[in-house]
Amino acid sequence: MTSILEKEKEFFLQTYKRIPVDISHGEGVYLYDKNRKKYLDFFSGLAVNALGYANPDIITAVSEQIKRFAHLSNNFITDVQIEFAERLVKYSGMSGVFLTNSGTEAVEGAIKLIRKAKGPDKKIFSFTGSFHGRTYGALTLSPKEKYQKGYEPLLANISYIRFNDIEDLQNKINKDTAAVFIELIQGEGGIVPASDEFVKKIEELRGMYSFILVADEIQTGTGRTGKPFAFNHYNVLPDIVVTAKAIGGGLPLGAILVSSDLKNIFSTGTHGTTFGGNPVACAAGNVVLKKVFDDRLVDDVMKKGMHFINLLNNLKKEFPEDIKEVRGKGFMLGVEHFYECTQLADKFRERGVLVNCTNQNVIRILPPLIAGKEHIDFFISEYKNLLSKKFHSANEI
Ligand SMILES: Cc1ncc(COP(=O)(O)O)c(C=O)c1O
Repeated sequence: MTSILEKEKEFFLQTYKRIPVDISHGEGVYLYDKNRKKYLDFFSGLAVNALGYANPDIITAVSEQIKRFAHLSNNFITDVQIEFAERLVKYSGMSGVFLTNSGTEAVEGAIKLIRKAKGPDKKIFSFTGSFHGRTYGALTLSPKEKYQKGYEPLLANISYIRFNDIEDLQNKINKDTAAVFIELIQGEGGIVPASDEFVKKIEELRGMYSFILVADEIQTGTGRTGKPFAFNHYNVLPDIVVTAKAIGGGLPLGAILVSSDLKNIFSTGTHGTTFGGNPVACAAGNVVLKKVFDDRLVDDVMKKGMHFINLLNNLKKEFPEDIKEVRGKGFMLGVEHFYECTQLADKFRERGVLVNCTNQNVIRILPPLIAGKEHIDFFISEYKNLLSKKFHSANEI
């Protein structure tokens, strides 16, 4: 293990804090290291591996597609891409799609489309605590010092509104607003849902000023929250939906989905990509969309998510000195602790469970959508074991 971490330091730019585990392979909800230690993965490659590891249908679909062709330029349209686009359009309620390689590329494309539709002078807003990606436009929409510092000048005409603050929203939105980007449940920001009243006010202002509402469903999409998309919890239909992560079944794939009003903003040659919508990624994505949407895995996520939240809330009652709040929906859950939780995530890993600590003190739980009640119950018993060791006493923030 030491040797691959040392080699990583030798060859890679040091942008990631690597988890010190040398993974051999994955199967279902488990990852295995080279010493055959088994890990329950409640992290899912950061909300990517919806169907777990080594899903046989994904393996077959990818193998069959790669035998036909791994790549054609986007000068061609292929059957696998059509099948993928059709499902995505149907389940999002949008009218048209542009396929990308990643989430940030989808956000970037959405910004371009908004500028073209609304002109260069109108303002685009995002919210405090949000994360939309690392390329320049997406980075500008992600107002955290950690992400932005040193990269100025950022993109012009992008500003921020305090998340869930109706007064700030009302003060800033007006006739000069081009668009609002929202994660309806903030992910990197610590699993923070938008309040119903806040979304209602956004809708009211959209009615008055006709700005473009963009739902960033990169993390929350593909059934993660127990509905096809997080906006389905709020009774709103955005003008643009950007999505990625789980839609490619572990391969790089993202999408900009737009309403009928915005379908003709891009014309031939005004936007493009070499790899976006790669046929092998779409073949894997078709398996995911079929399972999650057509076969209604999404409904199981809703039920299992409720069971999970109930157990986490019981844990909160049992450990009031450790747990401040339990948040989230479906299989996108956050447990806010009274202290920094990196060490807690490390302890989980020692016990064979992978979770993520985000925003300093939030344990972010993103199980594969196929995780069952038995995996959730095991996770809870491990959580209980850890907290029983009076973890809080050494970890006040
Ligand atoms: C809500 C949200 N938007 C955008 C992104 C960026 O996506 P990608 O890492 O695929 O570029 C992420 C990634 O974590 C995300 O969670």
